[in-house]
Amino acid sequence: MTAHPLRSRNWFGRTDLDGFAHRSWLKTEGFSDAVFDGRPVVGIANSWSELTNCNAHLRQVAEAVKRGVWSSGGFPLEFPTISLGEVLMKPTAMMFRNLMAMDVEECIRAYPLDAVVLLSGCDKTTPAMLMGAASADVPAIMVTGGPMLRGRWRAEELGSGTDLWRLWAERRAGRLSDEELCEAESCMSRSSGHCMVMGTASTMASMAEALGMTLPGNAAIPAPDSRRLALAELSGRRAVELARADGPKPSEILTAKAFDNAIRADMAIGGSTNAIIHLVAIAGRAGVPLPLARFDELSKTTPLLANLRPSGKYLMEDFFYAGGLPVVMRELLPLLHGDAPTVNGRSMADNVRDARCWNEDVIRPLGVPLASEGGTVILSGNLCPGGAVLKQSAASPHLLTHRGRAVVFEDHEDLHRRIDDPALAIDETSVLVLKHVGPRGAPGMPEWGAAPIPARLLQKGVKDMVRISDARMSGTSYGTVVLHVTPESAVGGPLALVRDGDEIELDVPARSLTLRVSEQELATRKAAWKPRPPKFTRGYGRLFLEHVLQADDGCDFDFLRGKTPVRLEDTAGPSHS
Ligand code: FES
Repeated sequence: MTAHPLRSRNWFGRTDLDGFAHRSWLKTEGFSDAVFDGRPVVGIANSWSELTNCNAHLRQVAEAVKRGVWSSGGFPLEFPTISLGEVLMKPTAMMFRNLMAMDVEECIRAYPLDAVVLLSGCDKTTPAMLMGAASADVPAIMVTGGPMLRGRWRAEELGSGTDLWRLWAERRAGRLSDEELCEAESCMSRSSGHCMVMGTASTMASMAEALGMTLPGNAAIPAPDSRRLALAELSGRRAVELARADGPKPSEILTAKAFDNAIRADMAIGGSTNAIIHLVAIAGRAGVPLPLARFDELSKTTPLLANLRPSGKYLMEDFFYAGGLPVVMRELLPLLHGDAPTVNGRSMADNVRDARCWNEDVIRPLGVPLASEGGTVILSGNLCPGGAVLKQSAASPHLLTHRGRAVVFEDHEDLHRRIDDPALAIDETSVLVLKHVGPRGAPGMPEWGAAPIPARLLQKGVKDMVRISDARMSGTSYGTVVLHVTPESAVGGPLALVRDGDEIELDVPARSLTLRVSEQELATRKAAWKPRPPKFTRGYGRLFLEHVLQADDGCDFDFLRGKTPVRLEDTAGPSHS
């Protein structure tokens, strides 16, 4: 049987037994014959969950999408995906990003969908959806849940995470009481939505927009703002058009030009270091080569424009009022591939050309940037042959070139057991090294990279130290923190060989990270090195350990990379019992 160009017709347009079954069973939901009249079916992939607080309002967003789909003559069908709640999920939501991407990919492929609207929000849910949609390659449009309203405590504005770390450090230094901390806790998260600094969720929403996978302006609209629902409705309408035209598909949008645009945007907004891993992973699904060197090339020629925490002063609500990502993209236009197609059918340049900035302290003009280079840099050297990442926009300028002696922690438990030990030989010039917190080591590469400063140094007023690990860092964090050291210590990378007292040199302007130990000594240490036994021997944990790639390959599974879209049209055969 020849496949119908509208995928859903291969399920619902049949006159055989299977067609009867496909229609009849769906009628249990109360749909009339009218919905099977040949109109496109639009799936709404919803990562709503009460365990993912950032996505807990997405059912309301889905209703707005449905409105749009119905009003444009489509047939919306909402379905759940697994959801990844950054704060509650252990050992780390990152361990399950690829699982969610598989869930999204397989649902899109297996069900009768002509287009799909991707509803995401919390950190990993956005890249997981984009990875899955890229692999399935059915026309897709994303709507993110939007950031929370700004937090406010006493006279202070509080930013998610960023101010939590700051207040917690104050508590450890003895300058804040438990009662005050408890009060601040309620003030920080006061509405629906995801973290409202330029953390990973806001960054990835911005990346989805910069890639061209959302309608313009999506990233910054606060979650409780009625305009987010209006945008969701419009996205539903657009999804029907995508379904009818069978495109543009993710493979037509997620091109090398789109990734260049996204990297430029990431650098200009001072985006989360996690964006590097996720963009590499999404590019891997789209078959676009994206070496870490490309991030550094573009970082060197992309100024930092967005004055947002943790790199700057403001919060996402201010970013929205200032004009949001379209203003950043308009400023960057001379550096962008303006002709990159986007999901609304127009080019990136056409989408942003007329964007207006309403607050130039929040979004700086290209000629008056906050910094001449992008927020994130890629380091290389004998300590990180596969690269490492540092967010210079959130680091201390005086530590960007630094030599110090290593204080080594073998893993996360060791760190927390000894960091405040009065006997620990450490001062502000030390370089804090944390091992076994990478993709395989932790496992899942948790956001443990911004290791705590010892309390006694905090009390002395030390606010930052050079910290090096194979972990990630929350997009809301700050400090001179070297992350994603590759290869990781758990697979015997040079990080595994560092010992207390070794001299380490960080030179951010030169983009280098050097372990000042002779090659001969390192070879001796390597010969004596033994891997730890795996932490999982069954289930998904085992699958993860056996197939996860290193950070420079985006931590995707080896068997999921590559442009291998399969659009299953063979709907014959018993699909019911
Ligand atoms: Fe979900 Fe920060 S915890 S975005």
